[in-house]
Amino acid sequence: MTQKNTTIAPRTNGLVDLFARSISYLRLSLTDRCNLRCLYCVTEEESDGVLTKLTHNELLSYEELLRVVRVAVAMGITKVRLTGGEPLVRRNVMRFIRELTGIEGLDDVRITTNGVLLERYGRELYEAGVTKVNISLDSLKPERVAAITGVNCFDAVWRGIETVLTLGFAPVKLNMVAMRHINDDEIVDFARLSRRLPVQVRFIEFMPIGESSRWNADTYISTDEIMARIAALGELIPLEKGRNDGPARVFRLGADSVGTLGFISPLSHHFCNRCNRLRLTSAGALRSCLLHDDEVDLRTVLRNGSGDEAVREALLAAIRNKPEGHHLEERLRRSGGDCHGRMSRIGG
Ligand code: 5AD
Ligand code: SF4
Repeated sequence: MTQKNTTIAPRTNGLVDLFARSISYLRLSLTDRCNLRCLYCVTEEESDGVLTKLTHNELLSYEELLRVVRVAVAMGITKVRLTGGEPLVRRNVMRFIRELTGIEGLDDVRITTNGVLLERYGRELYEAGVTKVNISLDSLKPERVAAITGVNCFDAVWRGIETVLTLGFAPVKLNMVAMRHINDDEIVDFARLSRRLPVQVRFIEFMPIGESSRWNADTYISTDEIMARIAALGELIPLEKGRNDGPARVFRLGADSVGTLGFISPLSHHFCNRCNRLRLTSAGALRSCLLHDDEVDLRTVLRNGSGDEAVREALLAAIRNKPEGHHLEERLRRSGGDCHGRMSRIGG
């Protein structure tokens, strides 16, 4: 008699793509709206006021988002990050976040925010069970923050940072996009912050994305150059890579710094071979690479009466499409062609 093994539960190894990368991390862009107008995110015309935004119906509803996450978690996603635009400007966002963190099997929900509304929402985020907060901050000078973001928001952001530090989110990550002639004279000041605050200051290489026409080879600064400037302050001690460091390489500036420094080098040191992410844009498209415009239209699947099997299929299709790498240098050499997706819709 042949033994039937159908009663044995299938071993789930989670989601694995064609290049043997395990996909466990889903980034959700909740809205393309934002209360700031950062110079690398909007075009010059847009910063003067004309921004085309998605309509309410084009966005996925909270119910639709929760459905996608439930299916994705059942398939092996363990970590979700909320992004935007600015996720905290979406109406009733806390109701959604509380339902999200309540999903069984999902223990790690994080948020990336510009910090403007953190003083107001920090405690609720903490109490809802959000595990980590990343805050974008490109300058420590109020006038310069106003010039970069179009809004005089430094004080609000700083109060937001203090709020989350007091609540006990640790480490709080501060993301600084380093740009020559714009904020590169502050690289060392940002690095110094890690000496006294329990933060991870993360230096991100400027990427040629979407409408960020202001990217050019001159504004771009490589991680090597950023590190060389910081090395003048003291020894950079490499830290062992934690499971949750993502693509950052992490160091401590001298042995007695409270915080750490992270370096994210999408251009100079690819981390594509370790990329574990899938993105859902605010318009409901699955995107398997930040820097490739190929998308799978999940919104239609969610609205055409299909069952969860079709949602699963869409997630698998996006994972099957995940390119091996972004090949950005080559693309830039060929055509000056950056990727056209908009950061505010994709969610960074
Ligand atoms: N290059 C690098 N980082 C970027 N961000 C937005 N646009 C770019 C770009 N072109 C960052 C923001 C924020 C996160 C959402 O993405 O600073 O930290
Ligand atoms: Fe808003 Fe982030 Fe874009 Fe700045 S980079 S305008 S904070 S979405």
